Amino acid sequence: MMMPSLISSLTAALLLASGIHAVPQGPFGAESVIVSAVPTASASTAGVAASQPTTSLGSSSNAASDISACNNSPLLCDRAYNNVTHMGAHDSSFLKDGSTGNSLAGNQYFNATVALDAGIRLLQGQVHDTNGTLRLCHTSCSLLDAGPLQDWLAKVKFWMDTNPNEVVTLLLVNSDNKLVSDYATVFEGSGISTYGYQPTDGSTASKTWPTLREMITSNKRLVSFIASIDYSTIYPYLLSEFDHVFENPYDVLSLSGFNCTLDRPKGQGSAENAIASGRMPLMNHFAYSVLMEGVQIPDETNIDITNSADTTTTGNLGLHADTCVKQWGVKPTFILVDFFDHGPAIDTADRLNGISDATGRKSTSAESKESSTSGAGENKAMGINVALVAFVGFALAMV
Ligand SMILES: *[C@@H]1O[C@H](CO)[C@@H](O)[C@H](O)[C@H]1NC(C)=O
Ligand SMILES: *[C@@H]1O[C@H](CO)[C@@H](O)[C@H](O)[C@H]1NC(C)=O
Ligand SMILES: *[C@@H]1O[C@H](CO)[C@@H](O)[C@H](O)[C@H]1NC(C)=O
Ligand SMILES: *[C@@H]1O[C@H](CO)[C@@H](O)[C@H](O)[C@H]1NC(C)=O
Repeated sequence: MMMPSLISSLTAALLLASGIHAVPQGPFGAESVIVSAVPTASASTAGVAASQPTTSLGSSSNAASDISACNNSPLLCDRAYNNVTHMGAHDSSFLKDGSTGNSLAGNQYFNATVALDAGIRLLQGQVHDTNGTLRLCHTSCSLLDAGPLQDWLAKVKFWMDTNPNEVVTLLLVNSDNKLVSDYATVFEGSGISTYGYQPTDGSTASKTWPTLREMITSNKRLVSFIASIDYSTIYPYLLSEFDHVFENPYDVLSLSGFNCTLDRPKGQGSAENAIASGRMPLMNHFAYSVLMEGVQIPDETNIDITNSADTTTTGNLGLHADTCVKQWGVKPTFILVDFFDHGPAIDTADRLNGISDATGRKSTSAESKESSTSGAGENKAMGINVALVAFVGFALAMV
């Protein structure tokens, strides 16, 4: 039997060795050591109790016929895509729930399907290559592996099949610098490419986007950004994020650290320039807390302040959004948060969009979080195994 204190120090070692947050290089550059030391099958399946969609409606058969609301509101139908604030789940596939043994690396309590049901319309994730397969992994596939990207895309497609009035945006981080054709293979394999919106010229930012109604009517209602790929006219629905989007900083360690300064793409110099170029603003709004020196985990303790629609307290989502609107002269087209159900974060998007009549959402309170005690024994054990392996990796990395 391992004592809790040992388990937690192993977990800490895991975090330390892996560089817990979504930055490509961990602080100790230890990923390769850990990856090579990981027992194969265990961790890779821990996060995915996949119930694969079995039905797949053709793209033309399910085009919306009655468009009375778009993205949960009649008011949004005739608004341009880039004049809507799309609320997003940061690291949307990396869960802190029973399926991951309540991984400290998890950024969300609920998966992408539940997020979409709750009104989230931007799903962000990090993609790694393991043996030639693109997988959704957090920092390293040994830390948190949410399964093959194609399976996840198929689930998002399934949701889009059954929700024909909804425009969805994906933002995938290309952690291992794979080719756009590698992404095309899984987008096509999942079937989701059928919904892929392609701008007239996807190689460059545009100030002119279609309205949500136009995207819904044409059934091209998935916008896919990848950071970063080289755009190719062969796969015109796969857009290189920083051709079209700019971001404020994402590595924030205190509630007073949120600002609206351009962080990427650096070449734009300032948010003002990026907006003038037609790039859409993405407002990162999630904080990390320091578990121990060099170890950052999603800041869960302050989440109700962080995700609050209020504009009164430092760190509030509502306050940060207002600050950026003032500074940029436009509202953020995209916002990313951790633990989206807190706040709930969608309230801030509704306010920016001028909506008070949202329809068709399902509250997450109707969902039960996979409890950490029921049915999670096996996964918990896996978590400890991974921690043990990471402990070895950590020891190796430090010599
Ligand atoms: C990757 O390939 C190696 C060598 O064949 C194998 O041992 C390992 O299980 C594979 N990893 C995954 C995640 O499939
Ligand atoms: C964005 O939408 C609002 C609300 O409908 C509208 O007042 C505004 O003119 C739009 N902005 C642009 C640039 O189209
Ligand atoms: C989320 O969980 C539900 C219930 O287990 C499942 O049906 C759905 O496919 C999952 N979605 C994703 C994206 O994993
Ligand atoms: C915004 O935050 C970043 C990252 O913390 C920092 O480097 C930058 O100086 C801040 N901008 C301003 C104007 O304070």
